[in-house]
Amino acid sequence: MQKEIVMFDVHKIREDFPILKRTVNGKPLVYFDNAATSQTPQVVIDAIIDYYSNYNANIHRGVHTLSQEATDAYEVARKKVQQHFNAKHTHEVILTSGTTHSINIIATGFTNVLSKGDEIIVSALEHHSNIVPWQMLCERTGAVLKVIPMNEEGELVMQVYDELLSDKTKLVFTNHISNALGTINPIEEIIDKAHKVGAAVLIDGAQSCPHIKPDVQALDVDFYVASAHKLCGPTGVGLLYGKEEWLNKLPPYQGGGEMIDQVTFEKTTYAGLPHKFEAGTPNICGGIAFGVALDYMNSIGFDHIAAYEDELLQYGTQKLLEIEGLRIYGTSKKKTSVISFNLENIHPYDVGTIVDKLGIAVRTGHHCAQPIMDFYKIPGTIRASFSFYNTKAEIDALVEAIKKAKAMLS
Ligand code: ALA
Repeated sequence: MQKEIVMFDVHKIREDFPILKRTVNGKPLVYFDNAATSQTPQVVIDAIIDYYSNYNANIHRGVHTLSQEATDAYEVARKKVQQHFNAKHTHEVILTSGTTHSINIIATGFTNVLSKGDEIIVSALEHHSNIVPWQMLCERTGAVLKVIPMNEEGELVMQVYDELLSDKTKLVFTNHISNALGTINPIEEIIDKAHKVGAAVLIDGAQSCPHIKPDVQALDVDFYVASAHKLCGPTGVGLLYGKEEWLNKLPPYQGGGEMIDQVTFEKTTYAGLPHKFEAGTPNICGGIAFGVALDYMNSIGFDHIAAYEDELLQYGTQKLLEIEGLRIYGTSKKKTSVISFNLENIHPYDVGTIVDKLGIAVRTGHHCAQPIMDFYKIPGTIRASFSFYNTKAEIDALVEAIKKAKAMLS
């Protein structure tokens, strides 16, 4: 086994994650499904316990002490999110239930912005959550969905993007990193070129924010969406960042408490940002824990995280490719720590089931990215996605498990 290249003390970091001590089917857990959701450090678990043990209350609604404490903690969390993503204003930070919710807010909001014949552009590398809401928008408006194609390496064909852009283009939306292949897309170029034709841009950062710290002002992106649970936070909470002028222009997504200014039976006026988009009681505890998770990730440092995960990616790629008949899908030079692969003539589900028996969690299937699977003419892949708390010894265990699966299934 090759020596770990320690950018930081991974063994010490692993102690922060209680789940990493458990066994699965009598074997030590090897958790390689980080692109689906990350694991939760004790400090985040403690924040959740503290909230429900000590100051569980509804926010923005009461003068009583608990409500004020919960409100203050929630707004501190919003500030942390603002600072982490470098939004200009805290009111540009809408706390949602996650990336899918955030995309749907914008896709619905664009109903009255688009007209028949307008064009919107998506990339071929998207998760279904960044395809289907826009198809529904096209059905409502008569707008036309255009697709930037991909190549064999799993990269976007940017010459075609240039050809698709025109004064008809109103909106471009793409992920920063493909969940299925790990490709890092050239979002700076995508944003810049879209703006030159007057189109707005939404970036889905769900898969990039665990690896790369984004700066929404430097990117000059119009909308940026992400989920806390990919960033060591809890499920059910996420970010919608929007430039103030866009968020003011778009209508609310849901009606209800908290998003109003005045309500009469004759007419209702809406609250200002961010409350206009936050109807109902939010995931208060989740929002607070999101802020704690960001503190935790920043205490490790995204430069360290990216460098260490790249070591894992290089090591895992090299080791897996030593297995005869194994093909990796997604071979872009610019990719993050996701390896999607198949064994020749073996269904990915069968491999996933066997490696689970050996304590290893990988995702198998189409990864909510069926167009990518269609491109490669495969039903799905086995996907191992590494995080900063994984080790090379765990990759060795995966490689041995894949070899065993291959021997059993060939
Ligand atoms: N989008 C998540 C994944 O890629 C769930 O697994």
